[in-house]
Amino acid sequence: MTKVLLATEKPFAAEAVGYIKEIASQAGYEISLLEKYTEKSDLLKAVEDADAVIIRSDIVDAEVLDAAKKLKIVVRAGAGYDNIDLAAASKHNVVAMNTPGQNSNAVAELAIGMMIFQARKQFNGKSGSELKGKTLGLHAYGNVGKSVASIAKGFGMEVFAFDPYIPREQIETDGVNWVATTDELYTKSQYVSLHIPANAETRNSINYQYLSSMPKPATLVNTARKEVVNEEDLLKVFVDRPDFSYLSDVEPACAAEIKEKFSGRYFFTPKKMGAQTEEANVNAGLAAIKQIVNFFEKGDVRFQVNK
Ligand code: 3PG
Repeated sequence: MTKVLLATEKPFAAEAVGYIKEIASQAGYEISLLEKYTEKSDLLKAVEDADAVIIRSDIVDAEVLDAAKKLKIVVRAGAGYDNIDLAAASKHNVVAMNTPGQNSNAVAELAIGMMIFQARKQFNGKSGSELKGKTLGLHAYGNVGKSVASIAKGFGMEVFAFDPYIPREQIETDGVNWVATTDELYTKSQYVSLHIPANAETRNSINYQYLSSMPKPATLVNTARKEVVNEEDLLKVFVDRPDFSYLSDVEPACAAEIKEKFSGRYFFTPKKMGAQTEEANVNAGLAAIKQIVNFFEKGDVRFQVNK
């Protein structure tokens, strides 16, 4: 019998787990659950007899793949797959997939929510500002960037987007201003929202030059990955620009210093929670189990990311 492991250190909503179990059992698959685990050894043990694994931000590295002797497919229920060692997966003949777009509305709502929270002085009772009429730059225009644009336009923001992988017409059709360079994006935007993946090209790429060129008051919103921001430069910008705020879904490594020195100018979620809604969990979880069934039953590898 095909065994599917749902390994989520940060568990899905119960409803999503219920749907995953239902689809698995309809396909005649056995499903096992490893939630809220704290030790890697628990994951190493749980993957031993799994034919398929569904994960979130759980790390699937060479050690995990070595332990997963029967594994044929790992599906990251979400967008970013920087937590999977793709080369090691290919070496082990394991197909790696993601479920693009399934949690993007939840992440977009968090980005906008954090912007409002900061614009209103973190609801401290003092006079804040509005999003209407402000400029917003989207650094990448994938599923999340597109959703942020649509919500921000509803708020009356002027939206710009930079994305070398998306055709200009596609961005302009959405009523968003296309910009040709990252320099132009940061120079134009009081708010910049990051939607780039974490990879060799993007890690530490959000630097002093970009952040210091933003018009006042400047707010950087990061619901992507903390690793894409150069933290040494981030701290320098905090010092040089009293108008600068940083809102991030998960704390940067330099959080303690920011908290100590720059009160009121930051907000960090305690745990990555962009995709932490029941709706996003159901969408991503259902997509993941359906992709697994389609893979085993029809050889469908449409969402494979380790080609
Ligand atoms: C993603 O890449 O899909 C998001 O960052 C969500 O990650 P999570 O599933 O760990 O919440």
